[in-house]
Amino acid sequence: MSLSFPEKSFSTETTPKEAKPFLKWVGGKQQLLAQYEAYFPAEFNRYIEPFVGGGAVFFHLWNSNRLPQHVCLFDNNEELINAYRVVRDQVDALIGLLAEHKKKHSKDYYYRVRRLDRENVDLTDVERAARTIYLNKTCYNGLYRVNSKGQFNVPMGSYKNPRILYEAVLAAASVALQNVSLEVGDFRQLLTAAQKGDFIYFDPPYDPLSKTASFTSYTASNFGDQDQRDLADVFTTLTEKGCLCMLSNSYTEFIRELYKSFKIEVVYAKRAVNSDANGRGNIKESLIINF
Ligand SMILES: C[S@@+](CC[C@H](N)C(=O)[O-])C[C@H]1O[C@@H](n2cnc3c(N)ncnc32)[C@H](O)[C@@H]1O
Repeated sequence: MSLSFPEKSFSTETTPKEAKPFLKWVGGKQQLLAQYEAYFPAEFNRYIEPFVGGGAVFFHLWNSNRLPQHVCLFDNNEELINAYRVVRDQVDALIGLLAEHKKKHSKDYYYRVRRLDRENVDLTDVERAARTIYLNKTCYNGLYRVNSKGQFNVPMGSYKNPRILYEAVLAAASVALQNVSLEVGDFRQLLTAAQKGDFIYFDPPYDPLSKTASFTSYTASNFGDQDQRDLADVFTTLTEKGCLCMLSNSYTEFIRELYKSFKIEVVYAKRAVNSDANGRGNIKESLIINF
């Protein structure tokens, strides 16, 4: 009797053992996780991350089984939250569209896809998410920058072989995001949304090291000094409410002054995005903790 085996049908791509960010995001916290590890609280009720970006801290806590049943991630970038929702709910359709983008990728194609928002082309949620991920993987440094009309304006990057489709990362992220609530929102909404016992990790756009080196245009509206002050007020009010709060920011005088009544731990980060000399190499950052 001879046995016949089917052709190998599974993907030969390496499967990441763990969930991790599916986007490149300025300020990504992947490199700081080991230093943060000592500070995460052992017990808490719900997990809330109001400036989720690439979500490195969320995925890290998920991988180590430390997340409770209720998790809420939000960000005021609508395209970003749409991408998260599509990864959670329609990952197969998304993978199909990214495979198309991968096949067609060229300089001309990049600018055609980038132009779709200027031409007001109506896209479905899954098409919008595929566009966002495609542009993120092929644009200059993975930046997300829009003009005052909200139109994406980052030039193409010079990657030889950009990883437009990484199925295993998308699939793992999709699993991690099941049951997670994903909202477009401003951090000030936490004043009513957060409750005693919640753990809230804040990773806002950083206070610039020098005001000219700033890259704070994550969305059409900049994050300025008044936003930093409002954020420190939110942090203080949530502390009084009994929430466990942890916040990353630069180690500037302004930030140390705003959070002077809290514990400020120093961590060290490698910075590559700022063109200013201060932004390169190992630089000090603050990790502000209220517990
Ligand atoms: C430093 S990034 C977060 C990086 C992220 N923790 C990671 O590991 O990739 C800051 C995020 O805050 C978002 N953001 C900016 N202003 C905001 C606001 N007023 N409310 C909520 N989110 C905001 C930006 O869209 C951006 O995704």
